[in-house]
Amino acid sequence: MLRSKIAGIGMYVPEHVVTNNDLLKYMETSDEWIQERTGIKERRYAHRTEETTTTMGVEAAKIAIQRANTTADEIDFIVFATLSPDYYFPGCGVLLQRALHMKEIGALDVRNQCSGFVYALSVADQFIKTGMYKNILVVGAEKHSFGLDLTTRGRNVSVIFGDGAGAVVLQPTENIEQGILSTHLHSDGNSAEILAMYNPGTHANHWGDKNYASFDDAEIANMFMSKKMIDNAELFPFMDGPSVFKKAIVKFPEVIMEALNKNGYQTTDITTLIPHQANLRIAQFVQQKLGLRDDQVYNNIQHYGNTTAASVPIALCEAWEKGKIKKGDLVCLAAFGSGFTWASALLKW
Ligand code: COA
Repeated sequence: MLRSKIAGIGMYVPEHVVTNNDLLKYMETSDEWIQERTGIKERRYAHRTEETTTTMGVEAAKIAIQRANTTADEIDFIVFATLSPDYYFPGCGVLLQRALHMKEIGALDVRNQCSGFVYALSVADQFIKTGMYKNILVVGAEKHSFGLDLTTRGRNVSVIFGDGAGAVVLQPTENIEQGILSTHLHSDGNSAEILAMYNPGTHANHWGDKNYASFDDAEIANMFMSKKMIDNAELFPFMDGPSVFKKAIVKFPEVIMEALNKNGYQTTDITTLIPHQANLRIAQFVQQKLGLRDDQVYNNIQHYGNTTAASVPIALCEAWEKGKIKKGDLVCLAAFGSGFTWASALLKW
């Protein structure tokens, strides 16, 4: 039976550093509040016109492809995870295929927010294991800065998020001492509206309790995108932070234990846990609950904020570049976010 291994990994973050104090230009907040609640000191914001989710994904992909000792021409499938695509449609996968002048290969976009990269990795893993593809590019990238309410009204959400991209190339291996051991995917749509961006969308909730039959033509014509949405900040993400926190600290440990149990390992066997960088307090809670030492968990949210689908590959890449992940190490990736969706992957590096 074939296994998938990460043959190359890369990351890209924009140059522009935005500190907590820089945010004071736009909103009432403080470095102390943000650090105490989230652990974040700074994040990166993409260039407003020259960088997009796709261009950042392309930069990360180029590094991953080169480190995998392959070329863009050899890639036979793309899986691209993001919640901040360049266009409503088509997705970033095809834009990346075009930018890297790849062959007319399949390109799939994954919309699973914070767990998007682990979902994307799982999809790619299945294609490698069945022998269908031999060189899959998996990307997680976000340009949050373009869609945040940077006024005091939106501060509970906007201080958390940053921009960036990470990518890996998956290839088959017959070495049973290496590669992805298992992946675990979950969802609970009952809380879909707790962390969401509702508009633009095809739902008809914009008008509260008003009876749809009583809409006039102008209202119906503007249901997808209206001035009211702009005026009421309905085109920005909504988050009930405390509810997200409560669910995350249950589901993170659960899905990590699921991966360990499936493969006969214990928490003490983990060399490095890469949790999705949602909030440093969540990661610390998970670490404590699982009894992990500091050297078993890698966090970098302090410098990049929460980069959603990009956070796991960015943290994995940085940990590897710093020499914290070596051949044969047991690495666990775990993520939780909007949907709710959550996921884990256990791999031998
Ligand atoms: N700066 C200063 N004050 C802020 C603020 C900011 N950026 N954002 C919110 N506040 C204020 C609120 O207005 C509120 O004030 P009030 O008590 O006068 O009404 C107070 O801080 C507490 O707000 P609350 O939302 O209850 O704070 P919290 O302690 O729950 O922390 C989060 C907010 C978002 C940091 C926290 O809920 C969290 O991290 N949740 C998980 C979010 C997450 O991980 N999201 C990513 C999903 S993958």
